[in-house]
Amino acid sequence: MSCLVVIGVQWGDEGKGKIVDILAHQSDMVVRYQGGNNAGHTVVVGGEPFFLHLIPSGILHPNKKNIIGNGVVLDPKIFLEEIEALKKRGFLKDDSELIVSESAHVIMPYHRRIDVARENKKDGLKIGTTGRGIGPAYGDKITRRGIRVLDLLDKDKFRRKLAPILEEQNFFLTQFFKEEPLDLDQMVDEYFIYGQRLKKYVGDTSLLVYEGIEKDKKILFEGAQGVLLDIDHGTYPFVTSSNTVAGAVCTGAGVSPLKIKGILGISKAYTTRVGTGPFPTELTDEIGDKIQKVGHEFGTTTGRRRRCGWIDLVSLQYAIRTSGITSLAVMKLDVLSELSEIKLCVGYQWKGQKLSSYPVDSEKLSECEPIYETVPGWKENLTSIRDFKDLPVATQKYIHLIEERLKTPIDVISVGPDREQTITRHNPFSF
Ligand code: IMP
Repeated sequence: MSCLVVIGVQWGDEGKGKIVDILAHQSDMVVRYQGGNNAGHTVVVGGEPFFLHLIPSGILHPNKKNIIGNGVVLDPKIFLEEIEALKKRGFLKDDSELIVSESAHVIMPYHRRIDVARENKKDGLKIGTTGRGIGPAYGDKITRRGIRVLDLLDKDKFRRKLAPILEEQNFFLTQFFKEEPLDLDQMVDEYFIYGQRLKKYVGDTSLLVYEGIEKDKKILFEGAQGVLLDIDHGTYPFVTSSNTVAGAVCTGAGVSPLKIKGILGISKAYTTRVGTGPFPTELTDEIGDKIQKVGHEFGTTTGRRRRCGWIDLVSLQYAIRTSGITSLAVMKLDVLSELSEIKLCVGYQWKGQKLSSYPVDSEKLSECEPIYETVPGWKENLTSIRDFKDLPVATQKYIHLIEERLKTPIDVISVGPDREQTITRHNPFSF
């Protein structure tokens, strides 16, 4: 039994794509289980970047099963476009290597429209969503008004199901948001065609994963976003609409928690966040600008500039606790090379009081002052180092300090975007 979960332990964009890509090499199956095309993975292969939003990064390796589980919300148009782009570049030669759950919920045009309309509404709550319709799609799933992948496969049934849903959505769009209504016939035709094109990829993914486990296959579960964006445990309401903690694997892929062997948390050597919401260690000075520039911190999905700040050990501790992280990968360590000193947030001060744990209340979190420990920088280029002992002493100390404070081993260190620019101290897949 070799099930490994890889999740982000910050606000997403930690570099999961690169690690999943490396670990996919050793896996038989790569499974996505939550989120949708709000995620964006950049994988650099031979100096060439690949942008994947929905399809697991395992697709870049031959002979792997790539699964999109029931917990994902699927935009069929984006999914089909991604398939085409992959095929154009010589990937996905065998269609049986990609399987989508029949019970995954579909992102419909009204979801995208409402997502954007809500964000644009004057005096409304601004989350800074990706505008991909993720929240409204999950909302409809929970209120049982969702359209699932299997519904797209039978035109009459699809129309019968969609008609009352669209009536309600159109009411909302026209009366509340003062927008144009959407047309039922056009939507049925368009999405039925998507269904026909999707058909060959649709399957019972929970069963496939179960069979994989029974056959002792190596299975990699690829999380999207990060723990601090979790709908229950994140900085609510400035979060995404799915559970991003490791436990989401169980519901989003239909797997027993007893089958999970390891949980690898991915963190940057600093912190970034896109969208609005509290960010105690945010740097709004020239150091923040430098990290943003050197780290090319722009969102893969929306191109937005990411907010940057120091590493936050308080929030990492919280993420480790709520997800049971067994080891960590620290990404983009090379980005800090130009700084003469580096800070680590080791505690929070709130209204003159030192907090002993991470506050769940976003308002309280936004009032927290970070308590920093400062360490010397190293001012050396790390990008060609492949062995931990070859890192500058100050860099090694920085890594050891993080490990010590978090009481969690750092298995992997990334010193550049390419697959090769990685220091592996321990293989997260060898349990
Ligand atoms: P949504 O997931 O599009 O609803 O966006 C909700 C919040 O999550 C916004 O702050 C987004 O910027 C953030 N978010 C969603 N997906 C990602 C991601 O993959 N990386 C980083 N932030 C994300």
